[in-house]
Amino acid sequence: MSHATSHYDFSDRTQAYRELARDLTAVLAGERDLIANAANTSALIYGSLPDLNWAGFYLLKGDELVLGPFQGKPACVRIALGKGVCGTAATRRETVLVKDVHEFPGHIACDSASNSEIVVPLIRGDELIGVLDLDSPRLARFDAEDQRGIEALARIIVESVR
Ligand code: SME
Repeated sequence: MSHATSHYDFSDRTQAYRELARDLTAVLAGERDLIANAANTSALIYGSLPDLNWAGFYLLKGDELVLGPFQGKPACVRIALGKGVCGTAATRRETVLVKDVHEFPGHIACDSASNSEIVVPLIRGDELIGVLDLDSPRLARFDAEDQRGIEALARIIVESVR
């Protein structure tokens, strides 16, 4: 397997996200274990997208989100549904894009370097599996095009564990 990291050219984001989706599909091919695939997904994303300080997963266990595989600094372990950006995305079952985390009521600060954030829920059929969370030190790092690209990556990991 070739380990594709850092060679994506995000000056053309549509193309870069397309290549990243293709490479993620290849990395996850033939494996259905959620932890293994979440670990490889966080490593691929963290090594590929510019301006991230954290990339990883919170997985639904009972009625709370529990820290899963990630890259970045150690993070808070348990997040109640409805709390923070992660718990909000999980409860709404839709992506939450935060241009300035300091203006998001209830934002949970795990790494003080974070200034913007995107959280994409992972949904398999009707079942919420968890969320994919990306943090950036740059204000307004993520926009609608990033959202589309990152949601596509989230769908690939959900499909891989069906
Ligand atoms: N900021 C998140 C918590 C997780 S850390 O960013 C890794 C939140 O408000 O849910």
